[in-house]
Amino acid sequence: MSPDSNPLLVLPNAQSNVLSVRAKAMIFADPASQQLLRQVEQFAPSGITILVTGDTGTGKELIARHIHACSGRQGSFVAVNCGALSQTLAEAELFGHQAGAFTGATETRAGWFEAADKGTLFLDEIGDLPLSLQVKLLRVIQEREVVRVGARKPIALDVRIIAATNIDVPAAVEAGSFRSDLYYRLNVVTLAVPPLAQRPADILPLADHFLQQYSQRLGIRTAILLPETQQALLSHNWPGNIRELENVIHAGLLTARDGIIRPENLRLIAATNTIRLTPVVTTALRPQNGQTGFESMAATINQLLSAGEPALHQRIEKQLVELAYAATQSNQVHTARLLGVSRNTLRTLLKRHGLLADASRDEYEDSFNLPI
Ligand SMILES: Nc1ncnc2c1ncn2[C@@H]1O[C@H](COP(=O)(O)OP(=O)(O)O)[C@@H](O)[C@H]1O
Ligand SMILES: [Mg+2]
Repeated sequence: MSPDSNPLLVLPNAQSNVLSVRAKAMIFADPASQQLLRQVEQFAPSGITILVTGDTGTGKELIARHIHACSGRQGSFVAVNCGALSQTLAEAELFGHQAGAFTGATETRAGWFEAADKGTLFLDEIGDLPLSLQVKLLRVIQEREVVRVGARKPIALDVRIIAATNIDVPAAVEAGSFRSDLYYRLNVVTLAVPPLAQRPADILPLADHFLQQYSQRLGIRTAILLPETQQALLSHNWPGNIRELENVIHAGLLTARDGIIRPENLRLIAATNTIRLTPVVTTALRPQNGQTGFESMAATINQLLSAGEPALHQRIEKQLVELAYAATQSNQVHTARLLGVSRNTLRTLLKRHGLLADASRDEYEDSFNLPI
């Protein structure tokens, strides 16, 4: 199971080995990355709450782990993917529960907050946290204590919170899906991790780093990138950021002969600066009669409302997701970006509307399934 599909990833555990190897070798070569690193090291020791923002695959989790490593905090680093918390059990998972608190709660258990006591709790994909839990999270952050589900007595905690998101939280606040008071609590310091395309001097050092790492793992003695391969890497736009680069190098090694990676061994995602949309969407969204797209959409929605169309919310949501997915030729990363939602949220939407045949498939993970 990849960390992305693992709802709750707790460290230290069996997976910590892989991650700590990665975490030790960090590349911050570009001036933009070096500036970020200086900020990380400046804010790490204070224990201050930090919001890490950036696109998927830019290294938000790695930054969070580094903050914890530099903080001097003695407790664990506990990572929770808020997008994967089950609606019904989320509260118990975060805050713990007493025996008998609900059906199936046979014993008393501590939650992730308690597991992170004296350490750091990393709340990944915070934009996906349901509103009902946002209130509870706010209270815990304010009071610095948790009450287990079914219990009365609060437990005092010393937990450093780092939250991460790839969505535009102020826009979510505006749209009413994220509480502004929680946003202000989390946003004491924001670290914006730039996309890989905005730190080009990191590309080749990162490529070399992954080349070393994966050639070692695959038992390939010497591995090199030809100059034209390096050029292709430098010219690419990296919509999937560092994770995409990592996967491209891994897949490149699997298809290369004698460890020599040629440009044709690179499976680069075709998209460039802007997401290329198929014409169907561009015409559908074209403003009419001098109205903006949103004004004409509001007029259409009003018509549908007065016509008493059934299941309107469901159908409009489906249409939006369907159009965006078709427009990006079923590219999940681009569709999520286009809609301004997290990848997890998008996958939930795709599943809900029957647009994801096999939910376990992942387009990046697919690049590992190459014939050797
Ligand atoms: N500065 C860096 N140096 C080396 N590897 C990195 C760096 N930043 C990210 N990575 C690697 O890229 C991958 C994606 O990083 P991750 O922190 O999971 O991104 P995000 O949480 O933003 O999606 C991970 O394998 C991570 O180890
Ligand atoms: Mg992540």
